[in-house]
Amino acid sequence: MDSLRSLDGYVHKRLHLAGGSLFENERPDFDPVDMLKTVYLRPLDALCAEHEDGGKPLVSFANYDYAGLANDVRVKRAACDAIMAIGIGSGASRLVGGQREIHGALERDLAAFLGTQDAIALVSGYMTNVSLVGHLLTKNDLIVVDELAHSSLIIGTTASRARVIRFGHNDLGHLESILAKHRSEASRVLIIVEGLYSMDGDIVNLPRLLEIKNRHGAWLMVDEAHSLGVLGASGRGVAQHFGVDPMEIELIVGTMSKTLGASGGYIAGRKSVINWLRFTLPAFVFSVGLSPVLAAAIREALTILRAEPWRVTRLRENSSLFISQAKERRLNTGRAIGAGVVSVLFSTARDCMRASHGLLEAGYYAPPILQLAVPKDKPRIRFFISALHTDSQIVGACETLGSLAETMRPAVSRSSRPWTSRRSRNLLSSDPLQL
Ligand SMILES: Cc1ncc(COP(=O)(O)O)c(C=O)c1O
Repeated sequence: MDSLRSLDGYVHKRLHLAGGSLFENERPDFDPVDMLKTVYLRPLDALCAEHEDGGKPLVSFANYDYAGLANDVRVKRAACDAIMAIGIGSGASRLVGGQREIHGALERDLAAFLGTQDAIALVSGYMTNVSLVGHLLTKNDLIVVDELAHSSLIIGTTASRARVIRFGHNDLGHLESILAKHRSEASRVLIIVEGLYSMDGDIVNLPRLLEIKNRHGAWLMVDEAHSLGVLGASGRGVAQHFGVDPMEIELIVGTMSKTLGASGGYIAGRKSVINWLRFTLPAFVFSVGLSPVLAAAIREALTILRAEPWRVTRLRENSSLFISQAKERRLNTGRAIGAGVVSVLFSTARDCMRASHGLLEAGYYAPPILQLAVPKDKPRIRFFISALHTDSQIVGACETLGSLAETMRPAVSRSSRPWTSRRSRNLLSSDPLQL
């Protein structure tokens, strides 16, 4: 117990717990950092060089580049031009340090693309969610959030003074019953969901959700981190996918790190709301403005996305090809609908890691997603599909995985069992009180 009083002893214990949960049945004296490094924090440059030297370049399914813009020469040129014209940093919070023209231009472009009245851009997608969810509501209010919502949204709820209730993943019947029971106790209610879920690749039934939230007088926040550029005929997101007016959603949030190939977060919605956030949102007021270099690169990426709709179409075709190839090989793709993100589930973490190593040996990079981010009994390899993947890369990855999986136990069933066990949650962030 004494050793847990020192910071070194404490973090050692927590890392051991995290590593131990992933590498069960390994040597008892294992070094968790060494073990974790066999799976995570992989040296990407060295891996790429190694495969290049071997004559077969590494194909990554681990990096989100849905629209194939991350390495586009026009985007890189826009960033270089901005460096030379404006410099690298924003210099201060935009509220007090002043803002560059590129900030306003980016926000107007984002709002126009998303079909909202206004938008605000921030330095990080993660912090955008934490800050907005923590800031928006107060006591006497209620937040009802999908249990599989991203960590940034969940952490945001812990920073809020509002009451928080989770509903079963995509279980709108459960959401209804929570609202029927608790709506009258709360002044305001915020429902939080994602457009396309990042671990399962499934989507929310937006029309039904809008009907429920309107009937109960609630507000809706949709995280479009993985649906911008992916869902909808021209990549406008889940509202376009369902043919719904995006202004029916009170708050659309997202990140510029996925389809737009850079980094940063945004919030889009009514002008009045965005203006209020410009003067009060902690992550905007107390943090530096988005780098003008990134703002320029993101603007260019948005322009290309609008001008080249084939990217969204191609991504859809590639995603369909991936999921049909996976299913043909009897791989368990769980709830994925075949749009941008497809996870292949395994029955054990060990099988999942073996499969990921096998893929890497064959030239496909797709790391295992284990208890760090998903329930312990649902280990998976998550594939981010890109508009730039070729058919042969997709077929090759599925073929390799199919052969590897034949030597393993069948994966867990396709049921959408919700996360019920707190113990099976993310051990890297385990509650210190458990120690
Ligand atoms: C649903 C969702 N929201 C927010 C984020 C955070 O975005 P970023 O990584 O750009 O900070 C992520 C990141 O993966 C995400 O999946």
